[in-house]
Amino acid sequence: MVTRINPSILAADFANLEREFGRISTADLAHVDIMDNHFVPNLTIGLPVVQRLLEVSPIPLDVHLMIDDPDRWAPDYAEAGAYSVTFHAEATTEPVALARRLRAAGARAGIALKPGTDVLPYLELLDEFDQVLVMTVEPGFGGQSFMASTMPKLSLLAERVRATGLDVWLQVDGGITEDTIVQAAEAGANTFVAGSSVFNGDPAGQIQRLRSAAEAHQHAH
Ligand code: DX5
Ligand code: ZN
Repeated sequence: MVTRINPSILAADFANLEREFGRISTADLAHVDIMDNHFVPNLTIGLPVVQRLLEVSPIPLDVHLMIDDPDRWAPDYAEAGAYSVTFHAEATTEPVALARRLRAAGARAGIALKPGTDVLPYLELLDEFDQVLVMTVEPGFGGQSFMASTMPKLSLLAERVRATGLDVWLQVDGGITEDTIVQAAEAGANTFVAGSSVFNGDPAGQIQRLRSAAEAHQHAH
């Protein structure tokens, strides 16, 4: 099974993003957190900055939209060339229609669930998505503690992915360290976002440590 480590540039030096991308070139994708100060109480960057990041990044971009009205904004990120675009289930009433638009624009379509959001309504729709992001913290800020209470959602998703054989990546985001990644991998995640644990130290070494820890605990199938 493939393990993907996606560093979150939320924890990078925003004054030197091109240099920061150079420090994570051994990662699989770079996770870019878009926050609008409405869906979450924090504000980051938007499409013009992402367009430049796409030009300088050595690895594909995994865009995580923590914004209201993703129906209005998400396809622009796909058209700009983001490899994957993930919107929040709580922010749209038409998740399937939006995912289809993202796929039509050439991106992998992701749907994200806040810790309190039930996964059951989405299990029947899995073929409409390329990625499900199970948030392991409340979205909005880096550096928070991993919520193990979200792991049963991953187990349900992993079971359904195995049963259907679909190529849906199961992603976790928030509080991922060498310790917590073990729980997430055991529950069935295969795509791991890590911000502070990667950038607050030696990124290349930490990417390798996270990868090894996850691979040692992932399901064999
Ligand atoms: C939180 C963001 C995360 C954040 C993770 O809302 O979606 O991507 O950067 O940061 P850490 O790894 O520090 O919890
Ligand atoms: Zn994120």
